[in-house]
Amino acid sequence: MPMPTFKTSFKKTALALATSVTASLAFASAQAAEVEVLHWWTSGGEARAANVLKELMEAEGYGWEDFAVAGGGGETAMTVLKSRAMSGNPPSAAQIKGPEIQEWGELGLLGELDEVAAAEGWDELLPGTVAEVMRHDGQYVAVPVNVHRVNWLWANPEVLEAAGVEMPTTLDELFAAGEAIREAGFIPLAHGGQAWQDATVFESVLLATGGTAFYQQALVDLDPEALGGEQMVEALTTFKRLRELMDDDMSGRDWNIATSMVIEGSAGMQLMGDWAKGEFTAAGLTAGEDYLCAAAPGTQDAFTFNIDSLAMFRVEGEEREAQHALARLVLEPTFQEAFNLAKGSIPARPDLDMSEFDSCARQSLDDFQRTAEEGGLVPSMAHGMAVRADVQGAIFDVVTNYFNSRDMAAEEAARRMVNAAQAAL
Ligand code: BGC
Repeated sequence: MPMPTFKTSFKKTALALATSVTASLAFASAQAAEVEVLHWWTSGGEARAANVLKELMEAEGYGWEDFAVAGGGGETAMTVLKSRAMSGNPPSAAQIKGPEIQEWGELGLLGELDEVAAAEGWDELLPGTVAEVMRHDGQYVAVPVNVHRVNWLWANPEVLEAAGVEMPTTLDELFAAGEAIREAGFIPLAHGGQAWQDATVFESVLLATGGTAFYQQALVDLDPEALGGEQMVEALTTFKRLRELMDDDMSGRDWNIATSMVIEGSAGMQLMGDWAKGEFTAAGLTAGEDYLCAAAPGTQDAFTFNIDSLAMFRVEGEEREAQHALARLVLEPTFQEAFNLAKGSIPARPDLDMSEFDSCARQSLDDFQRTAEEGGLVPSMAHGMAVRADVQGAIFDVVTNYFNSRDMAAEEAARRMVNAAQAAL
């Protein structure tokens, strides 16, 4: 075969380049419809999960502009979202949850999804309570991604074994197991000292000491008697005792770093929602073997739910078309399965086959259904499902200040709880 001359090969290269430029221009214009999605899924497990949606959008020819704002619990993401919205330039979709969807709806900034919802039969697909949260003024403005359970305890079985303890099922057992774990040379409870993580642990303790009726009165109905009463003092006191099980370097630590301490085996346990399972999964670990999950001690009959959802901002033309494709994809089985396997949560639609899911996810689904029937299903205050953002912020301040204070009495913190709920209302 004759060698191509410089001239012919140059020509070929030029031609190939020209073709590929034309192709990519054509591709670019075919890809013009793009969604920009704000979220705070930035840990290893979370990023794997978010990528599922990006890839599904791209497979349908849409562009994905990632607007990830790091910070567990999403406080920073919400601050950034507010400033983008105030400058008149919100993204097409944003991770917004619970009552906050209504707040954005009231500002008139959200776009409706009724056409997609009708075509895809969302009314029949979604449990009534979930659908309710996704609507503003009767119209769908958001789409649910998953159901997370917040009241979980995670543990490293090797650490428990080294300490000669079982997975604790009551708060007394938790304190006893913690002491044994410390004596065996490990950190008993991995924690990150950030307000939302403190609140995440606090609401599980309050649920254990006071039960679901008290949880509902205090953290959902904001009843001043419950907020300022004896049961609150007991919850706060027990919560503060948990500091004994935590290490001195916890201040400011991210939640996924705390999870990695359990994974590596420097710590025994962590109280955290099941996004922590996303980290165990990303590390290639198997539930029930390499790590253990159980309801947070004393909360077996309760389920604090946290539903992630994507709310849609008012956009026009092609961007709206891409946004509608995003909304449709989110509730399709392919996304629901792949995303939730990576994220640690369970699907938002109850009709899916769960055979690919692990034992923790199946327990989550069973407990979700059981507690829904028996009255133990409650919205997570710490994860924006129970009260509006201003009240939540004021409660966070009290919880975290009390947890970190050397001398604030639990009675004083309970008084501040009452003021927090009233001042913010
Ligand atoms: C969100 C989860 C997220 C977690 C940690 C929660 O509020 O619902 O999706 O993984 O915060 O960032």
